[in-house]
Amino acid sequence: MQKILVTGGCGYIGSHTIVDLLNHGYEVISIDDNSRSSSFSIAGIEQITGKKVKNYLVDLKNFDETQAVFQENTDIAGIIHFAAYKAVGESVSAPVLYYENNLFSLINLLKCVEEFSIPNFVFSSSCTVYGSPDAIPVTELSPIKKAESPYGATKQMGEEMLQDFTKNGGCNTILLRYFNPVGAHPSAAIGELPIGRPQNLVPAITQTAIGKLPKMKVFGNDYDTRDGSCIRDYIHVCDIAHAHTLAIQYLEQEKNKTACDIFNLGTGIGVTVLEAIQSFQEVSGVALNYEIAARRPGDVVAIFANNDAAVTQLGWTIEYNLTDMMKTAWAWELKLKAQEDSAKNN
Ligand code: UD1
Repeated sequence: MQKILVTGGCGYIGSHTIVDLLNHGYEVISIDDNSRSSSFSIAGIEQITGKKVKNYLVDLKNFDETQAVFQENTDIAGIIHFAAYKAVGESVSAPVLYYENNLFSLINLLKCVEEFSIPNFVFSSSCTVYGSPDAIPVTELSPIKKAESPYGATKQMGEEMLQDFTKNGGCNTILLRYFNPVGAHPSAAIGELPIGRPQNLVPAITQTAIGKLPKMKVFGNDYDTRDGSCIRDYIHVCDIAHAHTLAIQYLEQEKNKTACDIFNLGTGIGVTVLEAIQSFQEVSGVALNYEIAARRPGDVVAIFANNDAAVTQLGWTIEYNLTDMMKTAWAWELKLKAQEDSAKNN
């Protein structure tokens, strides 16, 4: 059984990826300092899979502690690196925090990749690297634009660091550029746990519908799109998760074309904010309390993926549609509410 190290394994995409890896016969260890996540996810993973996962409560910025995990696990066959801060607005107000956290953690990991000769590495990147695209859908060859935020800059720098590292024979790497991951595991045992007021659309929808937020805002209905709201490529988190297992298998089977292959992970379907809300209302039966508000600074009008490379080269298939995304996101929100209610009553 191959052992994969997942960093950020308690986080949203990390936890779903661990489930997928375990279900495909991998052994998994995780490093997560729980600064933006909770070990609650590990219990959910174990509940779904019936398998154990060890999480090392280690801050990847601490080189000695990171190195110690590799010394204890000399059989790591690959790394999937999720651990990073990802709130765009926060990165604008605390840029140094973002550069420090997202880049030092990657640097320390790559030092360990060198020292322990880890062959394969998968990096969480984002469609944010394309900025506001000149043409859609975007392919992996679409131009990289100047980052709109320090968060986006850390993803671009991470990609560049890995390009340089692999050029120099460091290891074989895949950069996965996520579009908009949403939804939750169908069991509702794991899902997204936003910190504070959610900035992303789907948690804002579900938290409004459940009554945690009084009202939500649609940021702009005067864009040049079919209904005036922005277009994104929402992709179910379990589909994203499975692409990581495929990425590891692709590297293991030495199918990579270069030392640093890149894949877009989106459905290829553009959905407007108002269409997403409509889909949620149909699935949940809840009339959402929303208002049209001003445009959000930094938002791109429309972006969606050309995912041909992931489909043809990784053998990726998309299992979940927009209805499934909304259904599972809503089931997860209902589950969290039931848990909170039962904690209050005890
Ligand atoms: C954002 C980041 C992206 C990052 C991703 C991480 C920006 C510009 N982009 O993507 O770099 O990788 O989060 O998760 O911040 N919306 C509303 N009301 C809300 C929330 C969102 O109308 O309460 C709209 C937004 O204006 C946007 C769409 O919903 O049109 C999706 O927003 P969001 O979920 O925040 O994702 P992105 O902005 O695409």
